[in-house]
This record gives sequence, structure tokens and C-alpha cells, in this order.
Amino acid sequence: IRQTALSALASIDTEDALQEWRRAYLGKSAPVMELMRSMGKMPPELRPLVGKAANEVKQALEAALEERGEAVKQAALQHALERDAVDVTLPGRQPARGGLHPVTQTLRDVLAIFGDMGFQVYQSPEVETDAYNFELLNIPSYHPARDMWDTFHILQKGVVLRTHTSPGQIRSMEERNPEPVRVVLPGMVYRYEQISARSEIQFNQVELLVVGKNITMADLKGTLQDFVRRLFGNNARTRLRPSYFPFTEPSAEMDVECFVCGGKGCPVCKRSGWLEILGCGMVHPVVLQNGGYDPTVYTGFAAGLGIERITMLRHRIEDIRYFWSNDIRFLEQF
Ligand code: PHE
Repeated sequence: IRQTALSALASIDTEDALQEWRRAYLGKSAPVMELMRSMGKMPPELRPLVGKAANEVKQALEAALEERGEAVKQAALQHALERDAVDVTLPGRQPARGGLHPVTQTLRDVLAIFGDMGFQVYQSPEVETDAYNFELLNIPSYHPARDMWDTFHILQKGVVLRTHTSPGQIRSMEERNPEPVRVVLPGMVYRYEQISARSEIQFNQVELLVVGKNITMADLKGTLQDFVRRLFGNNARTRLRPSYFPFTEPSAEMDVECFVCGGKGCPVCKRSGWLEILGCGMVHPVVLQNGGYDPTVYTGFAAGLGIERITMLRHRIEDIRYFWSNDIRFLEQF
């Protein structure tokens, strides 16, 4: 009995199997137990002998069961430890790294260049009154030049989303006068326009404004040319084209040679091979006056740069709509 029981026990390695073994070899109908129960029917002289032997077997089995139970428990613990082990020598998982949007990068580079030249950053609101966005910039409500900016109107009358950063010209002049002004105004502008490869309804501008004595068109041209060279390199080709804005006189626009697709007529370079990146001009006397400066004493120049377009040139991006597409595959390239 002892032999079969012990050899059955030796191969057991789970708690369930142990319980089963206990029922089979130490339970009510186990052979040792039957033997003990049947002692009453035995001749009295045999009883002590058989009883002692049966007891020994029972105790041996109980001891073996306890020992085996301990071993099974240890094995289970060992297994769990191995399964749940943390390998602290494995390198950690890299969290996905974010980055600055390409337009933000350009915006910062542009501000850094003008910062080097001595310009101060001036913030001005995105929601503007009709007065600042138009009237004070010499664009009365009846003026056909209003058509130059298709405007998002806010429900409240006389309030608009700024169509350009130029209202900041008036605000910074009001704050600084009669001191000279040399500021850059970065920010988002909004136009209710047809979206295309070169134009969005919402984009970033950086406005420049310089007001002082003896400021001339040469200062305007020199500053802008220096800026373009610092951003695009000394070989960048530009052209200053006469233009019209109600708040500058004379007015111009600056184009940069379009190398997005090598001037081959893509939707960005079109056939001309040039891309307009800014409007500019000498501040109109009426605007100087509206800002509190005497136009017989002061002159100034202003410009409004399109940051998305500058970014398109820098990185040869063929469609302005990528900037708002939120496509990680696009954004990851910068
Ligand atoms: N505000 C003009 C525009 O957005 C650009 C500009 C700025 C022109 C300053 C002249 C002077 O179209």
C-alpha cells in the first residue's frame, strides 16, 4: 500500500492532483483506512501488530503528502515569478516624439532674424473692429479696396476676424507715439476666400512697421532684401513689384524666385516662376496721422509677410493645404 501510494505521489505536480491523491490514499475508502476499520473483525492477537503497521503507513503517507504539498507550492511560486519577471536590462520603449509645426519653425526663425535687426515683437488681437482692420488704415467702407480682403464678419456689428496684421500698425503707433517705432507683429489672419494650392482661409502673417525721421524706401528695400538673404541664403533672387495698398504709398510686393518645382509650372510656381511672399510700402500719411504721428515730420515703412508661403519655398512644399491637414506623415518630415 505504502509503495503504490508513494510512487503515485512522486509524479504529482499540481494542487488539484494532490487533493485527488489525498482522497484516494487517505480518504474514507482508502486501503489503509479500510484496513483500520476492519480491525474489529480480526483475531485479537493480530490487532496490535496490524494496527501498528497501519498507523505507520498512515503517518508516513501524511508526512509525504505534506512534503509534496510544500514542493508543489514552491514550484508554482517559482513558475509565477518566472512568468511575471521584469527584465530590467531591456531598453525602455521610446515615447513618440512630437515636434514643432513647420510653420511655427519658420515663424520663429523669421522673428529671430528681425530680432537681430532690432525689431521688437508686438502682439495685437485676432478679433478686430472694422475701424482698426479697415477705417484707420485708410480703407473707408465705400472704398472698392475693401474687395481686396474677403472678410469673416462676427455677428456683432463692426467686429471682424482680422484679414491682415496691419491693424497692429495703428495699435503699436498709438502705444509708442511720439517715440520711433520698430516692431514685428506675428499672428493668424483670416480670409473668406477660395482655398487653393497657394491660398488658405487662415494663415500666419508677420507685419513689420518702422516709423521715424528720415525713413526712406531704401530702408524698406534694404531691410527686406537682407531678411530674404538671411533666410534663404545669399543666392536667393527677389523682385520688388509695384502694387497698390490703401495704407501705403508707394506700395510694392516682393516675389521670391519659385524653386518649389524648379519653376516648371506647378500650382505653386505657376508659369511665372515667382511666388509673392509679402506686400509692403511707405506708410501712407493718413495712416501716420491716424497713429498719432505728424506726416510732415515722420515717415515709415511697413510690410506684411506670408509665413506659410515662405515655409513652402524653404521646404519645397507643393500645396499650402498640407499645413492644416494634420497628416503625421507630412509633419514628421520637418
Ligand atoms: N496687409 C497687406 C495684406 O495683407 C500687406 C501689407 C502690409 C502691405 C503692410 C503693405 C504694408 O495684403
